[in-house]
Amino acid sequence: MHSSAILLFRVLQDMYVLGVWDGHDAGAALLEDSRVLYAANEERFTKRKLEMGFPSHAVAAALAFAGVKPTDIKHVAFSTTELTKTLERVVPGMRERYYLLRRRKVPRPRFEDFWHDLKYTLTGVGIVPGCNAVSSAWIARNLRHMGFADFKLHRVEHHTAHAATAAFTSGHGKRLVITLDGLGDGLSGSISTLENGALERHMVIRARDSLGIFFEQVTNIVGMRELEDEGKVMAMADYSYPFDYESNKLKDFFKLEGTVLSAAYGARKQYRLLKSLAWQMPREQFAYMAQQLTENMLVKLVSNATDRFGIGEVAFAGGVFANVKANMKVRRLENIKRWYVFPHMGDGGIALGSALYASHRLTGETDFAFNAYLGDEYTEEQTENVVKADRQFTYEREDRNDQAKHAAEMVEQGSYVFWFQGRMEYGPRALGDRSILAPASSEQVKDKLNMYVKKREWFQPFAPSMLEADAGRILEYDDKGADRFMTMAYMVRPEMHGAARSVVNVDHSARPQMVGNENPLYADLLSAVAERTGLGLVLNTSFNLHGYPIVMDPADALKVMKSTGTKHMFINGITVTNRKGV
Ligand SMILES: [Fe+2]
Repeated sequence: MHSSAILLFRVLQDMYVLGVWDGHDAGAALLEDSRVLYAANEERFTKRKLEMGFPSHAVAAALAFAGVKPTDIKHVAFSTTELTKTLERVVPGMRERYYLLRRRKVPRPRFEDFWHDLKYTLTGVGIVPGCNAVSSAWIARNLRHMGFADFKLHRVEHHTAHAATAAFTSGHGKRLVITLDGLGDGLSGSISTLENGALERHMVIRARDSLGIFFEQVTNIVGMRELEDEGKVMAMADYSYPFDYESNKLKDFFKLEGTVLSAAYGARKQYRLLKSLAWQMPREQFAYMAQQLTENMLVKLVSNATDRFGIGEVAFAGGVFANVKANMKVRRLENIKRWYVFPHMGDGGIALGSALYASHRLTGETDFAFNAYLGDEYTEEQTENVVKADRQFTYEREDRNDQAKHAAEMVEQGSYVFWFQGRMEYGPRALGDRSILAPASSEQVKDKLNMYVKKREWFQPFAPSMLEADAGRILEYDDKGADRFMTMAYMVRPEMHGAARSVVNVDHSARPQMVGNENPLYADLLSAVAERTGLGLVLNTSFNLHGYPIVMDPADALKVMKSTGTKHMFINGITVTNRKGV
């Protein structure tokens, strides 16, 4: 950090910066100086997955966590002022209609193609005059309704916010920062560098050339929900027979020259062509082609970018980097030395990205203390009060370290358990604080879990958590940076296919969480499993009811226990048994 920036930073000690995001997967994040103090998404409060709209619950929770009043916050950052986002803000009903349509909560519209054309026409427009002022006024008005006063509003461009999440939380030295998503503020990607304290953008990818929109369209065409089920398309691709790239019917949809990515068709034409191609083949084959094209483009783009800028430390964000299989291929590139994907890579991370960028502009800071455990937490007393109010449950207090051993014992003996401890995770994955745990070696428990709790599609794999120390024994692992956040797939070593039976994909890959000392209690649990089995490895899936967001509070957790008939839960030092559990 420059000395002038350090001076300014001192003047601004105890400075809070709040970030808000009111689009797809709305949320809030609060920074205190160079630390991420709190971050959560609105869906956890409203119980509607990927909630949209002003995140008033998440903002209130952030302030409550910090123990500050709205008037204590002098800096608020927000993002994205493109035409459609601005219209969503100010036209009543538009946002909700789109939310319900996209999530397929309403009947199929009669003029589906017309709606798609309209969407792709409008979203391609970007920022037009007046949008910045209207969007800023709308955000400010919502803040004032919550009691905010006398604050400065910082507007951050969409891909700058994505880039900030990757750049300022990766902890690398020099960084090459690449963002790729559907679109935002008229762009679908960007390439920047972070060197000598400056985040500098070198090039952009237009909305028209969006790999994210391409994959979103494929997701829609195979009968799934765009912006939600892209991971299922990726998983389904594994069930196609493999074929070489030359016979991929989608291969000419994109081309790459150097670091310039371009789509052969505009979004509307692309959608029509994809639809007619999909008609002619099984959907897993269509998914395979889309996945293969995405992998190919991503690998080449990143390879060319690392060559061009001569930086091997990479940091990625944007929804396209949720594709863990493509990430696996990218990570294998020889010229990548350090590798990082921001864990909340989709638009759910935009609130934090906005706050990080605004704070960086105010103070010069480029390294923010960050981990995944940034949400709400509950004391033992609060938890006990909720549990004892319901006679369906019996419980006992148990020291948390004993709970770790107890849960490990149950998992090792073949049960699945609910594991709820400490602060809620930020991002799409449960990482050992709101998790359902099961043995990694048991096919039967996996099937039981699927039948009663998760209700996943048959081709969706489960993922493992493992002690970082055991990662090299289980996976074909490298030294490019431990993956704390389940952002990449690795191949499982052949001798471990049995021990990892319930968490290994059909192609023998897995998407692991590698646990170090960032979550000591969870590491204790894995160590206790290792003492019994010789391997610190469990199946870890998110603690939620099918179709709902991950649970937030003890009341949510009990509700899921009841509706799934689950017997055992370890929650904040309280060990709960469901009388009606099986
Ligand atoms: Fe985005």
